[in-house]
Amino acid sequence: MTDMMSDLEKVLFDGETINQRIAELADEISRDYTDGELVLVTVLRGGLIFLADLSRRISIRHTFDVVGATSYGPHVESSGQVLITKDVEVPLQGRDVLLVEDIYDTGRTLHVVRDLLQVHDPRSLEICSLLVKDRPRSQEIPIKYIGFHIPNVFVVGYGLDYDEQYRHLNCVGVLKKEIYS
Ligand code: PRP
Repeated sequence: MTDMMSDLEKVLFDGETINQRIAELADEISRDYTDGELVLVTVLRGGLIFLADLSRRISIRHTFDVVGATSYGPHVESSGQVLITKDVEVPLQGRDVLLVEDIYDTGRTLHVVRDLLQVHDPRSLEICSLLVKDRPRSQEIPIKYIGFHIPNVFVVGYGLDYDEQYRHLNCVGVLKKEIYS
């Protein structure tokens, strides 16, 4: 772990800060969804760790499922194409769906996954993203629950990877440029 931490130029949010913010988000979500059947849906693989921590802090009844989507490959820039590799298995019709993402970057993934989930005819569909990158986008998507805003830098940790590494770090940090250039 220490070894991998030295690949970071800087830590943006340490584990404790992330945990505190997730507890706040979970309280808000638990208050907002009292009269329905909440289903959390995350996107493989980056969203897994956030989903696991958020779900365990939400105090109301809920279930969760996962969607497979990928866009980055081994690079730091999005390839511009999002490939759906797995649909949900839990029924979403008439239920309140909260799409849980690790990061809203170009927004391509959220556009594609949101459209996929709409086809399942949920009663409501909102988005919760741990990180929102402050950058220009051709089309914005409303994010109801936001963990943190970040500058337009490449970040890893807490589910986010570079070449499949760093996902297990309990912090979010900026990767040193020499690692990927
Ligand atoms: C990353 C991240 C988001 C998405 C955000 O996933 O986990 O799902 O990119 O980027 P966007 O807003 O530009 O679409 P990635 O496609 O790298 O797959 P992964 O979750 O398996 O790392």
